[in-house]
Amino acid sequence: MTDSLWYKNAVFYEVYVRAFRDGSGDAHGDLRGLAEKLDYFCELGVDCIWLLPLYPSPLCDDGYDIADYYQIHPDYGTLDDFKHFLNEAHARGLRVITDLVLNHTSDQHPWFQSARRSRHSPYRDYYVWSDTGQEYPDARIIFLDTEGSNWSWDPVAGQYFWHRFYSSQPDLNYDNPAVRQEMLNVMKYWLDLGVDGFRADAVPYLFEREGTNCENLPETHDYLKEVRRYLNEHYPGRVLLAEANQWPQDVRLYFGDGDEFHMAFHFPVMPRIYMALAKTDRTPLLDILSQTPEIPANTQWCTFLRNHDELTLEMVTPEERDFMWNTFAPEPRMRLNLGIRRRLAPLLDGDQRKIELLYSILFSLPGSPILYYGDEIGMGENIWLEDRNGVRTPMQWDDSPNAGFSTAPMEALYAPLIDDERFSYRQVNVAVQRRTRGSLWNVIRKMIAVRKEQPAFGCGACQTAAADNNLTVLALIRSWSGETILTLHNLSDQPQSVQLDLSCWAGAPVADLLSDRRFPVCGDEPYPVELGAYEYLWLLIVNS
Ligand code: BGC
Repeated sequence: MTDSLWYKNAVFYEVYVRAFRDGSGDAHGDLRGLAEKLDYFCELGVDCIWLLPLYPSPLCDDGYDIADYYQIHPDYGTLDDFKHFLNEAHARGLRVITDLVLNHTSDQHPWFQSARRSRHSPYRDYYVWSDTGQEYPDARIIFLDTEGSNWSWDPVAGQYFWHRFYSSQPDLNYDNPAVRQEMLNVMKYWLDLGVDGFRADAVPYLFEREGTNCENLPETHDYLKEVRRYLNEHYPGRVLLAEANQWPQDVRLYFGDGDEFHMAFHFPVMPRIYMALAKTDRTPLLDILSQTPEIPANTQWCTFLRNHDELTLEMVTPEERDFMWNTFAPEPRMRLNLGIRRRLAPLLDGDQRKIELLYSILFSLPGSPILYYGDEIGMGENIWLEDRNGVRTPMQWDDSPNAGFSTAPMEALYAPLIDDERFSYRQVNVAVQRRTRGSLWNVIRKMIAVRKEQPAFGCGACQTAAADNNLTVLALIRSWSGETILTLHNLSDQPQSVQLDLSCWAGAPVADLLSDRRFPVCGDEPYPVELGAYEYLWLLIVNS
């Protein structure tokens, strides 16, 4: 694998800077604090850090409402702090990607402020206006709990403006060549500072066309290909990751012929990992894998268990959504829009066996995994905070006051620490897990290390193991360049036996990659494996 394909076998880590580490003592996480913690990522084995939006913003959508694309939000520090952080990250061999919010700005952005004040403003046409607010009725509303329409009346402008998210986030008008150029300028600015690429936010919605649902339009793909051409020409080796919460066949289009995005999140696989566990049945996962098209050799899926948003249930059927809500979000406060605003560990009852199992599935699936900060120690949630803030609470470094996050007075912290009986920072923190053998943190660290040694995880084909009719066990074979890895997952709390057809490897020894269980060589007969409750195995079949 060449270095320019680094992202194909990388482990990503998503950081909400406000939550990670407060270096200035003002009760908000910042870039200086993040820089202090860089060795942590190396220790965990992470390759690339994804930073949520860092830019000046009124924070109506926690920074996804950008008021200035060229500066750092004062809560996070200065541009010099950013440069320092980036240099320090690069010095450790870490890569950094930032959020690129293409679709919309804040209504506080000077473009919008100018646009709304006059029809003759050079920025009027940067946004999408209407006299009636009746256009594009087939476009769905995404923030269902707060927005009644994708159009909002602006009394200053005397017109309606179009927005796919909060009404404080007017959509940019990509039919305007000046807008298309502005966003290339924004990219250039951050790439020149040295970022290794972007997680491109909300890309399906860039263009609007009557008679369509205004998602995944050909015009959108044309523009994104232009973005990629620009990147290829000027910044080879940097990466573009698409956030397109869509079905696999629609996301497939974002890879183009290997000439659009390098990576795209695989949204539909995520809820099905939870579903398979809850139903003790691998079928939902295998179904979505079978619906997932092949992607070009220079591209990669990005897989995740949780992120900073609600656990989205947009890419499931209504029956599956009800099942997920009833199982994982029994209380109304746990639900938001079409999703669940909870963290990984509480979703799984804090049961380390289940959490490890889900990470093992995540690491076994095709794609590069992204970890969400705090989930490597099984952090809890606070469903009483508004919006998605309950999964954005301060990182729990140790059991000292403020969990080692900040030196500010506790009551000043931007959000309360998790301090409930089960998930309090006094028990759930990095320091204690670092020194405890078998802690979640140590297990994940080991999984990451093993995964990175075996390129089959990042690059290999994925098949299900044959001759196994026990639906409770998920068995995946990843193979690449003469290397074969069999991963097995018992989705239930009961021991399970499986019989696998490994006859095409007859005579090959089998090595356990995660522990020191011994296994017989593969043979022509069905190969029996016993799995304990929620047990998982990663077996290397050593080809001769
Ligand atoms: C981000 C959200 C954000 C939305 C609007 C998303 O997809 O992940 O956090 O609210 O885009 O920018």
